[in-house]
Amino acid sequence: MSNGYRVAVVGATGQVGTLMLELLRERGFPASEIVAFASERSVGRTLEDEDGLVVQGLSDESIRGFDLALFSAGGATSGEWAPRFVDAGAIVIDNSSRWRMNEEVPLVVSEVNPDALAHHGGIIANPNCSTMQMVVALKPLHDEAGIDRLVISTYQAVSGTGKRAVDELLDQSHALLHERQIAPPDQYAHQIAFNALPQAGTFAVGEDHTDEERKLMNETRKILADPAMRISATCVRVPVLTGHSEAVNVQTRVPLSPERARELLLAAPGVSVLDDPQAALYPLAIHAAGSDEVFVGRIRRDPGNEHALDLWIVADNLRKGAATNAVQLAELLHERGLVRPRQEASPA
Ligand SMILES: NC(=O)c1ccc[n+]([C@@H]2O[C@H](COP(=O)([O-])OP(=O)(O)OC[C@H]3O[C@@H](n4cnc5c(N)ncnc54)[C@H](OP(=O)(O)O)[C@@H]3O)[C@@H](O)[C@H]2O)c1
Repeated sequence: MSNGYRVAVVGATGQVGTLMLELLRERGFPASEIVAFASERSVGRTLEDEDGLVVQGLSDESIRGFDLALFSAGGATSGEWAPRFVDAGAIVIDNSSRWRMNEEVPLVVSEVNPDALAHHGGIIANPNCSTMQMVVALKPLHDEAGIDRLVISTYQAVSGTGKRAVDELLDQSHALLHERQIAPPDQYAHQIAFNALPQAGTFAVGEDHTDEERKLMNETRKILADPAMRISATCVRVPVLTGHSEAVNVQTRVPLSPERARELLLAAPGVSVLDDPQAALYPLAIHAAGSDEVFVGRIRRDPGNEHALDLWIVADNLRKGAATNAVQLAELLHERGLVRPRQEASPA
């Protein structure tokens, strides 16, 4: 019997994939072998930080013999290759939006709805980064007082768009600081440096919300298992490298005091409360970057609504917003006996 699972990481050269490789190693995930996949552009590249792993290409032959496949290579790649990995015997944990709202696919946050893992049919979806951090903080409040309505404004980092968006922000900032013309924007509709864009994601024809805003609304309802929850969201892209921040107005069915909310959040798994505004203590993206926790502060009563509280929620979009949760789900599958290691050596 092989000692541990054979794990594929698809999108291994990307921001999220790189972190998934690092976290699998750091957290001691019981893997007998980890294989890195990326696009044809990267095939043959050596990943120096990962003991010289050599990037493979996706093919019917190369995807055979895996127990688990962690995907972070965009929706099109997940749409095409996740079912093929499942047909070849693997369980897929997918970071893209491709499968999240599929009724057969559980959408799981490790601290919020881990029991949903039991009902998977091969593919498990990791939520959108802005949804992920918010539901970790909202879950204990929802359990106590029942959330009736959310009004959300996000302040989202450029790494949430991908590596090229990070480069675009840095290039534009550098050019502007040196009083040079910037190149025409490529990743966003407008200049992102020294700006705030009231468009995170894209507008489909005839839509007055972006896909990012729809994801935040729909995924929150699915994860918290409350299709009737009323949600209004404005997703804003800001010139921050890593760490999404969110101002969330939470209206509950039963009134909840800020003191009780603070108590609940202090006891909640995966949450750190940083809330002493007089001492300028509240969560900041620059501090959340590199951490696996969700940080909550500015917990206060909405002065216009005795059923509502205001919160400020910050997390690293690449870690808890993506890679950390994916690895936590793999750990949960292992702990719950939901994935069995292969009995014999896999085919080459
Ligand atoms: N960034 C976030 O905060 C965040 C949060 C939650 C979810 N996600 C999701 O995670 C995914 C990756 O995001 P990211 O920020 O890591 O993007 P990224 O840095 O741009 O990396 C994309 C990865 O996908 C690979 N890839 C692209 N096309 C491929 C193909 N046809 N076949 C195989 N691999 C392919 C790339 O390989 P090459 O290097 O060879 O091009 C690279 O490894 C996206 O679906 C995104 O929506 C991201």
